[in-house]
Amino acid sequence: MNRVVVIGSINTDMVVQVPHLPGPGETVLGTAFHQVHGGKGANQAMAAAQAGAQVAFVGGVGRDVLGAQALANLQAASIDTMYVQQWDGVPSGVALIMVDAGGENCISVAAGANVQVTPSSIAAADAAIVDSDVILLQLEIPLEAVCAAIARAHELGKTVVLNPAPAQPLPDALWPQLSLITPNRSEAALLTGVVLETRAAIAEAARVLRSKGVGSVLITLGGDGAYLDTGAQQRWITGKPVEVVDTTGAGDAFNGVLAAALAAGYTLTDAAQRANEAAAHAVTQMGAQSTG
Ligand code: RIB
Repeated sequence: MNRVVVIGSINTDMVVQVPHLPGPGETVLGTAFHQVHGGKGANQAMAAAQAGAQVAFVGGVGRDVLGAQALANLQAASIDTMYVQQWDGVPSGVALIMVDAGGENCISVAAGANVQVTPSSIAAADAAIVDSDVILLQLEIPLEAVCAAIARAHELGKTVVLNPAPAQPLPDALWPQLSLITPNRSEAALLTGVVLETRAAIAEAARVLRSKGVGSVLITLGGDGAYLDTGAQQRWITGKPVEVVDTTGAGDAFNGVLAAALAAGYTLTDAAQRANEAAAHAVTQMGAQSTG
């Protein structure tokens, strides 16, 4: 019980708060700069650990200052970093982020060491996968590594959760190996071709995703909550109105808490409710790993 393995990216986020996001060729004077811990994988691992899970992380950093700080951050949250590889001569991942006055962001990532994660990194972390209850992955490390981890976890009968962010087309063989997929609106659109502008379209996108063979679909809808389709049941999870400061990492908070709740034995519906609460709280704070 309670054991989550997160396989994914580790970044340092360089965040500038701006009155509005710049257009091409435009310079916008920012109001503040923050250097904070990020990376979808690391953010999700932190959220799962804060939600009470015993977390092991599989990923990579460079042997540099940012990598050392990122590892120390994970370790301070009691996350097992034994399966985080450190590479010489490769920079750790960095994300450049702008957050506007309404909390909306745009992000570009220099993946650095994150792209060094390979199927052999996954094989080296086999003991953690064998020991886990839930495996949680995203798409900021190479797809071959993601596929290798999912295949192994599926073979072992684990609960496999894929947060398909940032979205990219996925191989047909992957879908039936997933217990749950958790796209946001734009990721679901890319994966299905459905434009998710109405409730009917969201439900249709979930049906299309399920028809690919995945067990359940949970589409996150930002301030509008989420939509869960398990095949046996369909359910809208209501968004919680909050004062938005920074939406960066809200999806990560959602996925980390979701994985922790599933590992703790909550039903998918209850886990999704808890995840929804966590995401609502996350947007009230600056930074991708906000706490408290
Ligand atoms: O989901 C937010 C994260 O995306 C940021 O922390 C950034 O590092 C990018 O990976």
